[in-house]
Amino acid sequence: MIRLENISFTYKNKIALDNVNVHIKEGESIAIIGPNGSGKSTFLKLLNAIIFSSHGKYIFDKIEINEETLKDTKCLKLFHKKVGFVFQNSDAQLFCSTVFEEIAFGLLQMGLPEEEINKRVSDCLNLLNIDKLKEEHPYNLSGGEKKRVAIASVLAMNPEVITLDEPMNGIDPKGKRFLRELLIGLNKSGKTIICATHDFEYIEGVFNRAIVFSDEHKIIRDDEYEKIIKDEEFLRKYNII
Ligand SMILES: Nc1ncnc2c1ncn2[C@@H]1O[C@H](COP(=O)(O)OP(=O)(O)OP(=O)(O)O)[C@@H](O)[C@H]1O
Ligand SMILES: [Mg+2]
Repeated sequence: MIRLENISFTYKNKIALDNVNVHIKEGESIAIIGPNGSGKSTFLKLLNAIIFSSHGKYIFDKIEINEETLKDTKCLKLFHKKVGFVFQNSDAQLFCSTVFEEIAFGLLQMGLPEEEINKRVSDCLNLLNIDKLKEEHPYNLSGGEKKRVAIASVLAMNPEVITLDEPMNGIDPKGKRFLRELLIGLNKSGKTIICATHDFEYIEGVFNRAIVFSDEHKIIRDDEYEKIIKDEEFLRKYNII
């Protein structure tokens, strides 16, 4: 489904990803692990075509994703319908004046009928347990509430691939347990999950694979999640625990 071949990315003159090769199959659930600044967020931004690589190829569903191919609005819309992104910083994601509008925004862009939009928004408000916030301004919500709204706005689009950048950040223990169950449920229903995380306590049973980035912005390990998480020596050596 997703193939990255020899992908590198540089911000001005700062390397953030160095020759990354990854193949992701439909239905996988993958943790993206690594120390601060190793390139996890950059990797997710690249998967979401928010940034484009300076070297290498990104192929999604047999189509090469780059600035050129996404100039075709049909291709762009299809891509954004299939891949959803929950940002590390919710404030970068929320811009509408009510929670309801925020969750409906992408659906309006998709041109769905009003009835369908109302149903999807109401389902997502219920699923994330934020129904009572629907008339609130997202700006005035707490960090954890904003995160729920951001997740709801992505799920409303019903993407095939859900990418999340440290979704557990700033979430209380109950919220983390809820999010864990949600991710497991989404994966069981066939969604591909790709999630950057530092939080290993609450994610047991969520992932079947982990991709580990090093301080050198390279993938140093790509293996079963359980194998990596049990390898304390490795995790300590690479500043992961
Ligand atoms: N907009 C930017 N401009 C310049 N450099 C950037 C920018 N964003 C990230 N970087 C640099 O790119 C590298 C990778 O950053 P990235 O945000 O991908 O790391 P990360 O693994 O997500 O870290 P964290 O665990 O702190 O979220 C870092 O060296 C960072 O300083
Ligand atoms: Mg990050």
